[in-house]
Amino acid sequence: MNTLVEVFHPALSTGSVVNRALAQAAGTVDGVQVRDEYALYPNFQIDVAAEQEALAWADRIVWQFPMYWYSSPALLKQWEVMVLSYGWAYGTNFALEGKELMIAVSCGADRDKYREDGEYGVNGSDLLLPFKTTARYTKMQWAQPFVVHSAMNISDAQVQAACEEYVQRLQ
Ligand SMILES: Cc1cc2nc3c(=O)[nH]c(=O)nc-3n(C[C@H](O)[C@H](O)[C@H](O)COP(=O)(O)O)c2cc1C
Repeated sequence: MNTLVEVFHPALSTGSVVNRALAQAAGTVDGVQVRDEYALYPNFQIDVAAEQEALAWADRIVWQFPMYWYSSPALLKQWEVMVLSYGWAYGTNFALEGKELMIAVSCGADRDKYREDGEYGVNGSDLLLPFKTTARYTKMQWAQPFVVHSAMNISDAQVQAACEEYVQRLQ
């Protein structure tokens, strides 16, 4: 199985702990290709043909990112607008049909805050509904998301454990 891990972190190599470790761990798995999207497109000028070609190779697509304001960093939204185009991903053609989509997200907040009776008043899975709906609309198969909580205050051992779990999910 070919897996494309598309990482959307504005400072993956300089300001990230969790996503950098996860991306490195993912890169050790056979059949996994990792793309640092912000490094490729720091000015948001996305090469749509190159992205679509990378997607065509994959059987499984992973969108990996830190949660920013209860959603993804901005480049993923721009990427969706540009890359998931009419006539390619939906409408008259469904290039991603049958591929698996997995969200891998790190959240600064701990798990208890993401409950309807918690501080944020919402389940974490509800925040991912736009991505789930996108998967459905483009005929991709929605995989169980991979979530790392408490990502701003995380020990080395917890990062290591998250990486091991991530590698298992990607194998
Ligand atoms: C602009 C910004 C917005 C953030 N918004 C959220 C948020 O809505 N929910 C949350 O749990 N954490 C939030 N965080 C914390 C990040 O998710 C956290 O720092 C990140 O997952 C850590 O991963 P990293 O080490 O790869 O950067 C935010 C951080 C920044 C910089």
